[in-house]
Amino acid sequence: MLATPGLTALKDPAEARRVLLDDALAGLELVRGVDGPIVDVGSGGGTPGIPLAASLPEREVTLLEAERRKTEFLGRWRDELPNLHVTWGRAEEQPSETFGVAVAKALAQPPVAAEWCLPLVGEGGAVILWVGPSADLEAVARVAGKIAGELIESPPGFAVIRKSGPTPAGFPRRPGVAKKRPLA
Ligand SMILES: C[S@@+](CC[C@H](N)C(=O)[O-])C[C@H]1O[C@@H](n2cnc3c(N)ncnc32)[C@H](O)[C@@H]1O
Repeated sequence: MLATPGLTALKDPAEARRVLLDDALAGLELVRGVDGPIVDVGSGGGTPGIPLAASLPEREVTLLEAERRKTEFLGRWRDELPNLHVTWGRAEEQPSETFGVAVAKALAQPPVAAEWCLPLVGEGGAVILWVGPSADLEAVARVAGKIAGELIESPPGFAVIRKSGPTPAGFPRRPGVAKKRPLA
């Protein structure tokens, strides 16, 4: 990781393990409970997607990352993990309803992350967001309700959204719009 400056600000190995690995695996059973290919949106240095790919070798895992330099680092993991794929691009510009599960950690404010992730999953799939204690889950629920999603009971530290129907017309909105004009 140190070979690619800027991937993470973490310097202490114990803290890095907690933030990059243990936190990622806290969501393992939630992800395992929803079928289909997995996308880690805004994968950055590879969390939670790489630990999930290593733990779920029978599932296809795509790391989607907007910054090209980071995708070059992520691509190095493909030799170790044959179920891993790396895509350079923005969530808002990907084909809709391609995945069973979209996961995201520290991608954006949770309502924005929900808007970016929901179009990526098909009906019956789920978005699983790693969220902090101050996350506005009511706003997440309002956003979800506008994109055929339903925020369901979620363990602490997570917002789990079920995709309950097809993505409505008009989504995803153009890059930049979700942050500039949030749905909630
Ligand atoms: C703060 S980092 C978090 C990285 C990692 N998930 C973690 O928890 O350490 C957010 C990442 O999301 C990427 N990103 C931001 N907006 C994005 C978008 N619309 N689509 C895909 N990636 C995006 C950024 O380039 C950055 O690498």
